[in-house]
Amino acid sequence: LLKRIQIIDTCLQRRIVTNAVEPSNVLKNEDNGEQEGWKAFDAIQLERQEQAERSVLISCHSKTNEKKFLKYLSIHGDIKNSFFYESYGTYAVVEFANQESIASLHEAVNLPVVSNESVVPFKSRLLSLRSLGAAVVPNSQTGPKCKPQATIPLTELIQRLSKEESIDHQVTSLMKAYQVTEENTRLRFLVCSLLKDIAAAYFPECNVRPFGSSVNGFGKLGCDLDMFLDLDSISGRNVPMPKAGLVLEYQMKRSNSERAVTQSILTVVGECVDRFGPGCVGVQKILNARCPLVRFSHQPSNFQCDLTANNRVAMKTSELLYLYGCLDGRVRGLVFAVRCWARVHSVTSSIPGAWISNFSLTVMVLFYLQGRAAPLIPTLDHLRSLAGPADKSVIEGNDCTFVSDLSKIQPQDNTETLEQLLCGFFHFYSTFPFARKSINIRKGKEQTKPEVVPLHIQNPFEVSLNVSKNVNAAQLERFVALCQEGAWQLEQSATLTRGTGHAPSPWGLAALLVPAAGTPGIKGRKKRKREPASERIKSLLESLKNKV
Ligand code: GTP
Ligand code: MG
Repeated sequence: LLKRIQIIDTCLQRRIVTNAVEPSNVLKNEDNGEQEGWKAFDAIQLERQEQAERSVLISCHSKTNEKKFLKYLSIHGDIKNSFFYESYGTYAVVEFANQESIASLHEAVNLPVVSNESVVPFKSRLLSLRSLGAAVVPNSQTGPKCKPQATIPLTELIQRLSKEESIDHQVTSLMKAYQVTEENTRLRFLVCSLLKDIAAAYFPECNVRPFGSSVNGFGKLGCDLDMFLDLDSISGRNVPMPKAGLVLEYQMKRSNSERAVTQSILTVVGECVDRFGPGCVGVQKILNARCPLVRFSHQPSNFQCDLTANNRVAMKTSELLYLYGCLDGRVRGLVFAVRCWARVHSVTSSIPGAWISNFSLTVMVLFYLQGRAAPLIPTLDHLRSLAGPADKSVIEGNDCTFVSDLSKIQPQDNTETLEQLLCGFFHFYSTFPFARKSINIRKGKEQTKPEVVPLHIQNPFEVSLNVSKNVNAAQLERFVALCQEGAWQLEQSATLTRGTGHAPSPWGLAALLVPAAGTPGIKGRKKRKREPASERIKSLLESLKNKV
């Protein structure tokens, strides 16, 4: 009976976690068995892209009268969806029901009137609303209600979580507060669509697709926007070659490597974004990176953007993470909690360096879940064995095949709570034999390390690569020490009597998210024991040694 109660409790818990999340990626699956409303990754991408192509982004006055504004725009056609948000000013995202409305709008939009300046006559779907003379769109007293596009402050989050009654509820609450929302997802796809219009100046049939945490289900409000310039649909590429007879082919400039071609493409597209892209500022071309990219800031959306090309493996990786996240609500919950904990304690950072990346950390969580006594998720090899002919995918010689249909994956019978899983995660990595073993989600079992590096995590698809090659010994040691502390803190929480009232003291996940002493902005936390100076100097020297 106890076992059955536990199972029912876990199932309810699963539902709480999955249902509480805004359907940022149209994710409505509950248990694995019930997949009503579940959509395959590619289907969601297509739907979102199509939605974005029918949308415009309009800068407007903060007191704009929403009703009159929408009425004014509806002369171009029915409006399907709209919302306002604050960035550098107030903006509206307006989605028309039909594509023709965009053409109609373009006909009616004026060129800006400027004095002492000149404009680049590039007509995009980023517009400004002006009120002239007797205002066509009179302002209201209060202005439109804006949808938040940023996370609440950490102190507020900690207070909120401290009031929850269980760690499982805390995780749900964390996701509700921090996860990329429906509106934020729409905005991400719209920015990609605006970028596509710029890149189309050179490659009319190109596509720009988001990948990484914008679409893999683990995105936090404010995360960067990773974009992939997809040129695969350029017509003629996949036309079958006849066996005999005449054939016409394009004359194309040749280069000595794919990498050189990618660099040339990103050079010109980067230049275009810099010179003609409205709202795109601080453009940097980082072409010598392992994966060449153009980095810039898209001011109207406040997104930090990374535009790459020829990066289909990363797209496939995003799909894999999305699939794992859809298998069970606890996967997303745990990844989310661990990623937030890691960010607060500077295990991860928004700047690249010798530390663990969010991507590596996510793979570590998945690996841990595969290794539970009752595994929560299957191995990548198992997902590969379930793949159908349509799932076959080989990218640059790498086998990226895995099943894309959730219904083909048998539900796992793990009944652990998020509290148990979180605690287990910290214990697992507190004692993991990093010196000898490699983390491998393809096999779901630790493997002998193929090279001498502090942390080895096999790249799921490019199996000869280590996704955590950048991590130095000092950062790994810090991670392990923080895991030990995390396990200890959770054990303390289990035995503590929780505070009540308006501001109970942080416990459980909330306590884990309290930054260490010395971090500004957080008051009233307990001072932690610092490691001896000799240890800190040793770790600093180690980190410097690894940077050289
Ligand atoms: P955020 O920190 O929230 O941006 O997480 P993210 O998952 O988007 O990570 P990031 O922006 O660093 O990278 C974007 C995507 O690129 C990841 O989700 C992976 O699909 C891929 N990626 C990142 N780092 C690596 C790596 O070292 N190897 C491989 N193969 N792919 C990577
Ligand atoms: Mg990212």
